[in-house]
Amino acid sequence: MKILVTGGVGYIGSHMSALLGELGHEVLVYDNLSAGHRDALLSGRLVVGDLADRRLLEATVREFAPQAVIHFASSIQVAESVSDPLKYYDNNVVNSIGLLQILVKLGVNHVVFSSSAAVYGQPEQALISEDSTIRPINPYGSSKACIEQVLQDVSRSHGVRSVSLRYFNAAGADPLARIGERHDPETHLIPLALMTARGKRKAMAINGTDYATPDGTCLRDYVHVVDLAEAHRVALQYLFDGGASDVFNCGYGHGYSVREVVDAAKKISGKDFQVHESGRREGDPASLVADSGKINRILGWKPKYDDLEYIIKTAWEWEKKQ
Ligand code: UFG
Repeated sequence: MKILVTGGVGYIGSHMSALLGELGHEVLVYDNLSAGHRDALLSGRLVVGDLADRRLLEATVREFAPQAVIHFASSIQVAESVSDPLKYYDNNVVNSIGLLQILVKLGVNHVVFSSSAAVYGQPEQALISEDSTIRPINPYGSSKACIEQVLQDVSRSHGVRSVSLRYFNAAGADPLARIGERHDPETHLIPLALMTARGKRKAMAINGTDYATPDGTCLRDYVHVVDLAEAHRVALQYLFDGGASDVFNCGYGHGYSVREVVDAAKKISGKDFQVHESGRREGDPASLVADSGKINRILGWKPKYDDLEYIIKTAWEWEKKQ
């Protein structure tokens, strides 16, 4: 198969491109390198381009003629989306619509879309299922919810079938440490903890200890990035088998607290780094844990790395190479 991967040298996209290559697919990555890295391309070809450059995007899709598109490219920082919402609606919504217009025009009928648990906002239930209320609390989440809706509508009118995967917390790195998480600025818990363990930072903060959770810190469902890539593989298979457009949570179904993650990072790294307790970070829900029944049942997703210590170990091996 020929698969176009937008954002395919970013964090999750690079693990996806690598997996597709291993499976023998022909991969073409379209990435503007704003957050991606040229050296994160382990298989396939890279076209450096922006989604906003419709001429280049259309020429690329026309020439490559993919059977499917996996659409990762987007802006991903929740806090930035609050301070600069237009950037998020422009890049995540307008540019995704531009991509879909091209796909409809050129008859590319299978799309896997990177959505997020951020579409749920402050969830009311401990385990969030796909039919929980969609009520995003920041422009990032709203931009993802909007494209999910557009995809449903496009599916009805134009026959472009899609799977939207609502990622919980992507974490870890390639087990061979060839690729991993490299955000700038880094805001995510596990890389920050490991950067502190390496001495790149003097200390790290726990953002809030007064949540209504067992130890007062936020609970998150950390999913190994290779399992996330595998979720896209089974989603593609589902679409190629004729599956209808749908949305799926992508999480393991259990959460770890910030304290548990920090303790595991200390154990894996062997470093007792400095940790401060500070106030809550704006926009953080207390708990985001997936009900993962639907993706297991319908897509047959079988994650392999549901183990916090293994996730952190792969992130640590990657961090040591930086
Ligand atoms: N945290 C700390 N200290 C830090 C960094 C993070 O205590 O130095 C806390 C956060 O406040 C949060 C938890 O660790 O409670 C996890 O934070 P991350 O920044 O690692 O991840 P988020 O849950 O905020 O965000 C992730 C994705 C978003 C997505 C969201 C919901 O990065 O894109 O999950 O799906 F929107």
